[in-house]
Amino acid sequence: MSRIHRAATFGSSRARRGPAAFSALVVGAALAIVPSTPASADAGCAVDYTVNDWGSGFTANVEITNLGDAVNGWTLEWSFPGNQQITNLWSGTHTQSGANVAVSDAGYNGAIAADGSVSFGFNASYSGSNAAPLAFELNGVLCDGAVDPDPDPDPDPDPDPDPDPDPSDRVDNPYVGADVYVNPIWSANAAAEPGGAAVADQPTGVWLDRIGAIEGNDSPTTGSMGLRDHLDEALEQADGDPLVFQVVIYNLPGRDCAALASNGELGPDEIDRYKNEYIDPIADILADYEDTELRVVATIEIDSLPNLVTNVSGRPTATPECDVMLANGNYVEGVGYALASLGAIGNVYNYVDAGHHGWIGWEDNFTASAQIFYQAANAAGATPSDVHGFIANTANYSALKEDHFAIGQTIGGVPVRQSSWVDWNNYVDELGFAQGLRQELVSQGFPSDIGMLIDTSRNGWGGPDRPTGPGPQTSVDAYVDGGRYDRRIHLGNWCNQSGAGLGERPQAAPEPGIDAYVWMKPPGESDGSSELIDNDEGKGFDRMCDPTYEGNARNGNSMSGALPDAPVAGHWFSAQFQELLDNAYPPLN
Ligand code: BGC
Repeated sequence: MSRIHRAATFGSSRARRGPAAFSALVVGAALAIVPSTPASADAGCAVDYTVNDWGSGFTANVEITNLGDAVNGWTLEWSFPGNQQITNLWSGTHTQSGANVAVSDAGYNGAIAADGSVSFGFNASYSGSNAAPLAFELNGVLCDGAVDPDPDPDPDPDPDPDPDPDPSDRVDNPYVGADVYVNPIWSANAAAEPGGAAVADQPTGVWLDRIGAIEGNDSPTTGSMGLRDHLDEALEQADGDPLVFQVVIYNLPGRDCAALASNGELGPDEIDRYKNEYIDPIADILADYEDTELRVVATIEIDSLPNLVTNVSGRPTATPECDVMLANGNYVEGVGYALASLGAIGNVYNYVDAGHHGWIGWEDNFTASAQIFYQAANAAGATPSDVHGFIANTANYSALKEDHFAIGQTIGGVPVRQSSWVDWNNYVDELGFAQGLRQELVSQGFPSDIGMLIDTSRNGWGGPDRPTGPGPQTSVDAYVDGGRYDRRIHLGNWCNQSGAGLGERPQAAPEPGIDAYVWMKPPGESDGSSELIDNDEGKGFDRMCDPTYEGNARNGNSMSGALPDAPVAGHWFSAQFQELLDNAYPPLN
C-alpha cells in the first residue's frame, strides 16, 4: 500500500530548481525573531526567520504569523543587510533587486487566517557577514507584532480546551509505561514460518480494512477475530496493566486514489456508508472499552490526504480518481469524522497518517500536506485536539536513519540534494522527516505536544549488502548510492520491495518527538498481487507490484523492485516474510 505519489516533482522539480541550487540543512538555528507588541487588531504580523548557514551560503525558513484579520494573498518585503542573494525559493514566488526582496504567496498558501501562519524557504549565497534582515513588511504593514516563536500561543499543555469528555485520561505518550497488543493471528502466521518465532511476539497493527473486518470476516489475514474479539484478547494481555491496542482505520470512500493494489470497497461518494456502517460501529465498540486499561492507538487512513496534494491536476502524477476525491471532499470529511468520533472516546489516541519522506519530504509537498491535515482536523466536527499525533512510513520502506550522507553535504561541489536518489528532497530518512514534520504541524496549528510514530516494520535494509561506510567521492551519485541503506531501485517504489528487512523493533519514546517505533504494517502481509488475482475485497492489480514492470512517472520510470508471486494485498506472503527475517536490521539474535 504505501505508494509514493510524489514522483510529481521528479524531473520537474529538478528543472525548476536548477543546478545552482545550494544544499540545505533543514534543522536550522534560530537566528533572529522580529518581535514586539501587537500593532492593530486588523493588521499585524510577526516573522520568524531561521537560517542554517555554512559560511558561503545558507538556507532560510521564514514563517509569517498573521496577528490581524485574515489575509487573502500576501507579499512579504525586506532588505538584506549584506550582499545575500537568493538562488531559489519555495512555497512562494520572489523578486530581488539589489538588497530588496519581495516574496508573494504561491497560490495554495495565499490565505492566512487570523493567528494562522504560513512558511516559505529559500537558499541564498553571500560573502562577508550574513546578518538577518532588521524588518519585514507584510502587505505593506510593518511586522512588529507580539512575537511568539511558538505559533501556538496556548500555554496550556493540555491540548484539549473542552470538547473531549475527559482529556485528563490521556497520557502524553501512550506507549510509555505500557505493553503493546500482540495480534494472535499475525503472531501465529509468523510463528509458523521457519525462524519466525524470533519475532512472533512483536506487536503489530490490527487493520480494519473493510466493514466486514469489524465483526470478523474469515479473510486469510483477519481470520475470525472481529474488533471486539481483539479488544477482549487485549484485556487479557493487559492483565490489569496499561496496554496499547493499535488499530488501523482504513476504509475511506474511493480508497487509494493513486494506486490500485489497496483499492477499497466503498465508492468515491459513499461517505454516508463510511460514517454509518464503518466509523459509527467501530466507535460504538470502542466506547465499551473506554474505562479500561487499554490505550487505543487509532491510525487514521493510510495514504489518503497527501494524495490530495501530490496526485491531483496540476501535477504530472495526477490521477482522475484523486481529482474526484479532492473535488468531492470525502477524504477530508471522512478523516474529520473519524477523528471526531474516535476522539470523543477518552482512551483513544488518534494518529493521522502522514506519508513518508519519499513522498512529502519535498518542500512543495511538505507544507501543503500539513495544511490539508489541519483542514481535515477541523472538518466534520473534529478539532485539532482530536489529533494526538501522526504516523510516518506506514507500510513503506524508507530507511529510519541514513548515516552515510546528509542534506547539506556537497561532493566535488555538487550538493547531495542534487543526487538522483535524493532528487532535491529536504530529507534523506524517516527520523529527520518525522521530526521536521512535527514542527511544521505545530506551526500549522496542531497542539505543541503532538507526537510522531514511525512504522519500522520493513525498513531495516540489513543483510550482507548493507553498506558499512560512505560511498566513493567520485561523484555525488556514487557517494549517495554507495552509502545508502535503502537499496530500492527508486524511492518511489512501494510494493513488496526486494531486499528489505525488518526494521527497529517496536519501542517507546526512542527519539525526541517520536512517541514510538511501531510495526503498524504486519510484516509478511503483501502490499499487492504481482498479477491480477480475482478477489472479493475490492483490491485491484497495480503494476507497481509486478517485478517486470518498467515504471511510470511516479517512480522515475524505474523497475518496480517488487518480489514475484505475491498474493493480494493483506494476504500472507511467506517468501517476503523470509526475506524480511534474513535482512533484518538490527539483525535478529
Ligand atoms: C491491505 C489491507 C491489509 C493491510 C495490512 C493493506 O495493504 O490493503 O487489506 O489489512 O495492508 O497488511
